[in-house]
Amino acid sequence: MTNPSLLILPGDGIGPEVMAEVRRIIDWFGDRLGLTFDVSEDLVGGAAYDAHGTPLTDATMSRAQEVDAVLLGAVGGPKYDVLDFSVKPERGLLRLRKEMDLFANLRPAQCFDALADFSSLKRDVVAGLDIMIVRELTSGVYFGEPRGIIEEGNERVGINTQRYTESEIDRVACAAFELAMKRGRKLCSMEKANVMESGVLWREVVTRVGADYPDVELSHMYADAGAMQLTRWPKQFDVIVTDNLFGDLLSDLAAMLTGSLGMLPSASLGAPMANGRPKALYEPVHGSAPDIAGQGKANPIACILSFAMALRYSFDMGDEATRVEKAVERVLADGHRTADLLGEEGRAPLSTSEMGDAVIAALDASL
Ligand code: IPM
Ligand code: MG
Repeated sequence: MTNPSLLILPGDGIGPEVMAEVRRIIDWFGDRLGLTFDVSEDLVGGAAYDAHGTPLTDATMSRAQEVDAVLLGAVGGPKYDVLDFSVKPERGLLRLRKEMDLFANLRPAQCFDALADFSSLKRDVVAGLDIMIVRELTSGVYFGEPRGIIEEGNERVGINTQRYTESEIDRVACAAFELAMKRGRKLCSMEKANVMESGVLWREVVTRVGADYPDVELSHMYADAGAMQLTRWPKQFDVIVTDNLFGDLLSDLAAMLTGSLGMLPSASLGAPMANGRPKALYEPVHGSAPDIAGQGKANPIACILSFAMALRYSFDMGDEATRVEKAVERVLADGHRTADLLGEEGRAPLSTSEMGDAVIAALDASL
């Protein structure tokens, strides 16, 4: 049997630093458990632009289509702000999502007990929080046509189009219902059916798909009210399904409930490949954090947990995924903290690689 293949795209800013710790975890699985992955590495985002003048080369794109899973660090940085829109680092990531057709973006927001006091909300509100946002990732206003900046009379007009087909809504709704079945059997769909036709269709299609899942309690909320409810009492939710743009906003909001953006992983999944595995890309929810890049300050946990999601969703290694998640929980419970998890506390933070050491030690202890 051939080893499962992974393409690693560290990207920009803190991406390479946090990914270096993930590589150590991958090696740990090979050394200690004989689970070996064929790992290759390539450039994306600003790093690819610097080397090749494009944020994603065709060669890297084809490689991403061939492997079992892609792990991505982060893209972007102020250095690239001046670039033309078409070659901005973010375009590399968006091209991967679109061409791999990764329509279901799973963004869990889980509050680790050791960090409950670190949230800006009261402990009561967030302790034990475990929700999953399913964000549609390949359509909506991110990709809708027409788009652009045009001249109209004596001024310019910026245009983007929110657009959803029934089949696009249908497939992401199915993914969300399937997840809800494996979790708390509650699904809340969020749109703006009060002002947008795309929202009206969204609600209709999700309701129709729901008929096939009588065991899942389906509710609908306008996305603005959803944002309010997420901060008021987030534990009312189990799975949330929403469109690309609302999902972008709501997942950042949900992330912050847990105390730190540095903690949250994500999985972007598409249709099954010939080998039965879904097309998949895993990445932390956080960005490239240029302000701390290259200083060894970044928290590698979100990226490590993204690898855990790869174990679960791409490789059917749920137990091994849990092993990584438990190791992270252990490390936090033991008080290990990178700078983002200390806030005003005076003590010295762990560096990125020291946090990696701590996770590896906890993995060793799990054997
Ligand atoms: C995210 C990011 C991306 C998005 C950017 C980097 C293109 O904010 O993954 O949430 O807007 O989707
Ligand atoms: Mg975002």
